[in-house]
Amino acid sequence: MCGIVAYIGPKDASPFLLEGLQRLEYRGYDSAGVAVVAPATKGSPARLRICRTKGRVADLAAALPARFKGGTGIGHTRWATHGVPSDANAHPHTDNEGRIAVVHNGIIENAEELRAKLTADGAVFRSETDTEVLAHLIAAHRAQGGELEDAVRAALGLVIGTYGIAVLDAEQADRIVVARNGSPIVLGIGEKEMFAASDVSALVRYTRQVVHLEDGELATVRADGFRTFTEDARTVTRQPSTVDWEVGSYDTGGYAHYLLKEIHEQPGAVERTLSGRLDERFATAHLGGLNLDARELREIRRVKILGCGSAYYAGEMGAQLIEELARIPAHSEPASEFRYRNPVIEADTLYVAVSQSGETYDTLAAVQEVKRKGGRVLGVVNTVGSAIARACDGGIYLHAGPEVSVASTKAFTSTVVAFALLALHFGRVHDLSPADGRRIVAALKALPGQIREVLDQQDAVAELAAEYADSQGMMFIGRVRGYPVAREGAQKLKEISYVHAEAYPASELKHGPLALISPELPTVALVPDDELLDKNLTALGEIKAREGRVLAVAHRPIESRLADHCLVVPKSEPELDPLLLNIPLQLLAYHAAVALGRDVDKPRNLAKSVTVE
Ligand code: F6R
Repeated sequence: MCGIVAYIGPKDASPFLLEGLQRLEYRGYDSAGVAVVAPATKGSPARLRICRTKGRVADLAAALPARFKGGTGIGHTRWATHGVPSDANAHPHTDNEGRIAVVHNGIIENAEELRAKLTADGAVFRSETDTEVLAHLIAAHRAQGGELEDAVRAALGLVIGTYGIAVLDAEQADRIVVARNGSPIVLGIGEKEMFAASDVSALVRYTRQVVHLEDGELATVRADGFRTFTEDARTVTRQPSTVDWEVGSYDTGGYAHYLLKEIHEQPGAVERTLSGRLDERFATAHLGGLNLDARELREIRRVKILGCGSAYYAGEMGAQLIEELARIPAHSEPASEFRYRNPVIEADTLYVAVSQSGETYDTLAAVQEVKRKGGRVLGVVNTVGSAIARACDGGIYLHAGPEVSVASTKAFTSTVVAFALLALHFGRVHDLSPADGRRIVAALKALPGQIREVLDQQDAVAELAAEYADSQGMMFIGRVRGYPVAREGAQKLKEISYVHAEAYPASELKHGPLALISPELPTVALVPDDELLDKNLTALGEIKAREGRVLAVAHRPIESRLADHCLVVPKSEPELDPLLLNIPLQLLAYHAAVALGRDVDKPRNLAKSVTVE
């Protein structure tokens, strides 16, 4: 949520800043801005030049003056929290003299209080943002002498909240100061030039050598290197690591949208999630990062899964898998609710945090709540080294590759696969038989090929999507294993197409939602070929009797008196069927959004990685 970039070196900063912001735009896209230090000329000292605008990075690029030169610069793309999207609220923010410029991700909780004090001392505020407080605070400390990094440290000492920041000072243009507390900052090491960003995706075209700051750390970044230190000025040594994701992972690769590319990347993503983790000899899964031995696993009596949005729905599928394969009670709950309800933390419960980004603030706060009360948390996370991954006691990395489109698809699928591995491992430590273990191993191995088969039906799904897209809304129904699929299907449709969508357990229809059924409100029904098939067919009959239109996703064609259309997906083992049933729903949402002319990768009001409360 929001993106930060920074450059210092011999070249002009702006081309990197603009390209970096474009790569980070998926994290926030209501306004954007850049600041550079224009070098001193005869008779005039170095000064800040700032350009910012409401709108997209393309609008910023169009607004940028032709001679916007300077080798030290910072940039930001915003997802509004404090104040509407506007030119004035766009970052960077400055002090009265326009000497200090700050870009910021996160939230300053005591901004109002600080704003009142600073105003009394003469600061003139020109935006509604919490960030502007930082610019004035840093300027006030700089005015007392000392270096920029000392002023930033002193200012941050007064701040309550979360931040990733980058700071420029027109009078110390040989450096940029960055700091992290709850919002990522990563440094990129170049040849006599240095970069910084809130996400490696902005850096990979320029360098693979990166340094992740830890919470509570700052860095002074100069063209020839960097120094990392703590809030109490202790120097810390950080070794660079090498980013192994390909530059191409961040391009659309010839697809019309990132979302379509990511949907089609799912077979490969699943292969990577499974890679090296299936143990055919013992019909189990090998999960090196759990940090739990068989004895400790046997002592677990319950599993509580925590995540937000699609991660929560993937957790619901995970809970189902764990209950079925390991026969341990398992339940998924929105992390955003859990953290606020003073949850009871039990020693024999295993907590599992799910997050693609590894940055979602509510999920991180839930992990911290569990840990504070002495609980044990595993992470099911895509982004290596992310805040949630680091906060957990162990876990499973998805290795799904970077997910750029705001709506989650391949990470969702890989998360469910990771849960299948966890459930298999748990199950084999408990009472899952070797024969059942082999059954699941074989089904997992078949998944990538089966996902390809579903993706081959893209044209048929696109046709149906165009037909259903102009509905006044859509109902999604599924029963037991199918219910989380319905919830995720409804979520995907509403977030990218803005078509209203509701998910219900098929069993609940006649307890209320049946009243909504009419020709104007079609139903997407998950109808797997399992022990509940007859019950699901009965529900379809009830909908058709009320003149509802039905699009079924099933394992074999459904007769036309029960469904107007049917998408047939390959059959897996019943426990894994939800995974494959979900894939056509992703395509349906995508093609509905395209048919309606939506901004598929950047849906309105949303952003990737929700790093605020
Ligand atoms: C939906 C979607 C969101 C995220 C949620 C959690 O398509 O992308 O609902 O799933 O914001 O994000 P992560 O997984 O990064 O914690």
